[in-house]
Amino acid sequence: MEEKIHAIYAAAETALSQTTKEEEIEEIRVRFLGRKGELTQILRGLGELPSEKRSFIGKLANEIKTKIEHAIQSKLDTIRASRFSRLIDEEWIDVSLDSPRSTGEYSRGHLHPISQIQYEIEDIFTSMGFTILDGPEVETDYYNFEALNIPWYHPARDMQDTFWTEDGNLLRTHTSAIQVRGMETHRPPFRVIGPGRVFRYEATDASHENTFYQVEGMMVDREISVAHLIYFMKVLLREIFKTEVTIRLRPGYFPFVEPGFELDIHCLICNGKGCSVCKQSGWVELLPCGLVHPNVLRYGNIDPDQWSGFAFGLGLNRLVMMRYGINDIRHFLSGDIRFVCQF
Ligand code: PHE
Repeated sequence: MEEKIHAIYAAAETALSQTTKEEEIEEIRVRFLGRKGELTQILRGLGELPSEKRSFIGKLANEIKTKIEHAIQSKLDTIRASRFSRLIDEEWIDVSLDSPRSTGEYSRGHLHPISQIQYEIEDIFTSMGFTILDGPEVETDYYNFEALNIPWYHPARDMQDTFWTEDGNLLRTHTSAIQVRGMETHRPPFRVIGPGRVFRYEATDASHENTFYQVEGMMVDREISVAHLIYFMKVLLREIFKTEVTIRLRPGYFPFVEPGFELDIHCLICNGKGCSVCKQSGWVELLPCGLVHPNVLRYGNIDPDQWSGFAFGLGLNRLVMMRYGINDIRHFLSGDIRFVCQF
């Protein structure tokens, strides 16, 4: 029995000397000192020994147990201490080396040009007291059409055919749905913008996409007129194009505004002389807008005799195309990295 105990100690020492990992030490502890461990078995069996041997063996086994515990602890201490010196050896960083970025091996990427312009527009409008709103891309008929003065039988629905879900909802055709949501959460006077992705059932070509981006804007206050609308649109365009932009308003039809306009800008490419971008007309159609229709205010629980407002819907793809001279809208969603890398 005595020899067996000494042998256990020797085995524990060998096992400890051969390991360098903390997890292995735990295994060793279980093997010798755990509930079914070799030494534990001996201590448990003490009762069966003749009494003259019992105290001697018990004492020895307990001594060895303590010795193994100490050996384990000191091995753990050594391993933990050496971990740091090992880390310093293995994982040191030479801070004087060039970063992968500066050597051109790797670059971090950047925002998509649509996001860039969206954030710029958000900055311009927040600086003028507008709040930024969000809305869902899957909308109900009510928010996308009904509350915008487009009842189910209205022919204007045909201009904005879209994708419907089986439960009767739809992919929003314009950010104007955010106007309706804005009126639910804000009491006049208020100014809000709502950027977002919109969808239409569209035969795609160089200037038509089924998925594109808009920023909606809406301001409701006392006695808002077309003059207010023009003022805010001119500030927006000046900030975006970094130059004073000449504009004109043409009548445009949208059921949710009255009067409604198409706002054109003097072509920035040819300065109004006529080129392929403005189809030789000198003007580029950029911004549908108008004064909020009284019915729309009513749907939003706003009294049109007390309040009035303007609204606009700015197409972001068109804006980016103007800014960089991009000739095909389909590039935006092509996923072609060579396209986005240019901006
Ligand atoms: N929602 C319209 C569209 O997408 C644009 C618009 C917005 C027109 C606000 C007038 C006022 O075609």
